[in-house]
Amino acid sequence: MLTGKKILIGVTGSIAAYKVAYLIRNLIKQEAEIKVIMTSASCDFISPLTLATLSKNPVAIEFIKNAEGEWENHVELGLWADLFIIAPATANSLSKLVSGNCDNLLLATYLSARCPVWVAPAMDLDMFTHFSTRENLAKLSKEGVRIIEPTHGELASGLEGQGRMEEPEKIAELAKDFFTIKSVLKGKTVLITGGPTYEAIDPVRFIGNHSSGKTGILLADECAKRGAVVYLVTGPTRFTVKDKNIHVIAIQSANEMYEAVQEVWPKANLGIFSAAVADYRPETPATSKIKKKSNELTLTLVKNPDILSWAGQNKRDAQTLVGFALETDNEIENARGKFERKNLDLLILNSLNDPGAGFGHKTNQVTFIQKNNKLRKFELKEKGLVILDILDEIETIIE
Ligand code: PMT
Repeated sequence: MLTGKKILIGVTGSIAAYKVAYLIRNLIKQEAEIKVIMTSASCDFISPLTLATLSKNPVAIEFIKNAEGEWENHVELGLWADLFIIAPATANSLSKLVSGNCDNLLLATYLSARCPVWVAPAMDLDMFTHFSTRENLAKLSKEGVRIIEPTHGELASGLEGQGRMEEPEKIAELAKDFFTIKSVLKGKTVLITGGPTYEAIDPVRFIGNHSSGKTGILLADECAKRGAVVYLVTGPTRFTVKDKNIHVIAIQSANEMYEAVQEVWPKANLGIFSAAVADYRPETPATSKIKKKSNELTLTLVKNPDILSWAGQNKRDAQTLVGFALETDNEIENARGKFERKNLDLLILNSLNDPGAGFGHKTNQVTFIQKNNKLRKFELKEKGLVILDILDEIETIIE
């Protein structure tokens, strides 16, 4: 049940506006409090009276609400809501949300809202696949707006494809999930690094390692499931995230990963650095393929930035930083050294000496290293279960 949860519904001018009646009905049945804002274009598709009746509240449309000149307070509406769902969201409104355009009450309320904002796009196939719509959705997503992807099927134009607004039952279910998540990660911004880095030798060859990227992907999906806003900076991997709202920043080299981390870390509450970063890179990668001329080839390697150390040095009090260590000898001693030197709150040690642990396996065996010499070793588990142990532990230490 959504008892007492305040949900603001924004309706824009699409044929899918008829579906919003079912969404409101569903949320009201779950005892949510609903207020509705409509654009004037949406009133051509569904009557404000219908939505006012279903939501049990007057519908807000214009800045001036009556002949007496009474002001519809968009700031109050924005602050009232625990969740703002714009459904259906047209290509026109999405573009205005991105540009900060404020020429109707719905847009002004969006700019005033402090709660999470979700958009459920609805439009015709070619409008949805148009680069401008894709770019607008990517920008909104980057700023933390959740995109409820439209589904595939028959469209009002008669075309077949993606563009149908998600079904009201599904949106209501997402709202229920959102409000029932108890995790402390809910609403937090999490930066995850994952995968290997590739350090170019020439345009064809690189220095890399065996990290598959699976751990980073699993961590990202689980954090998203627990309600976090997730940024995953990952090296090349064949795995993909399930949750479309995860911001995936695909990189190749350590320097590219460093750049991305420097951008995201200042706004993150939590950093989990599971990437296997190359410590060295060729000093000057050849600009064309190196030819097989002599029996020996000498490469000069220079040190890469230690990205985790940088994050540790630039950690604010309210930030939590988790590192990984992959060791082959003196595991605990080396891991403790990394824990201290990199200013961490938790270090996940995995040893290549433990069969089935590290990269290239579906499983891993980890030991948690924490302050005051606290140490906890786990049994060998599927990586999907290992990351649950890690996140459960993080939930006990995060601010
Ligand atoms: O991707 P998978 O196949 O699922 O494998 C997961 C994993 C084995 C790669 C993962 O569990 C793991 O152990 N990652 C860290 C591997 C590693 O390179 O450890 P390290 O001891 O070299 O580095 C210590 C920490 O510093 C790590 O958090 C690493 O991300 C970070 N680091 C290291 C070097 C560097 N230049 N920058 C960094 O940020």
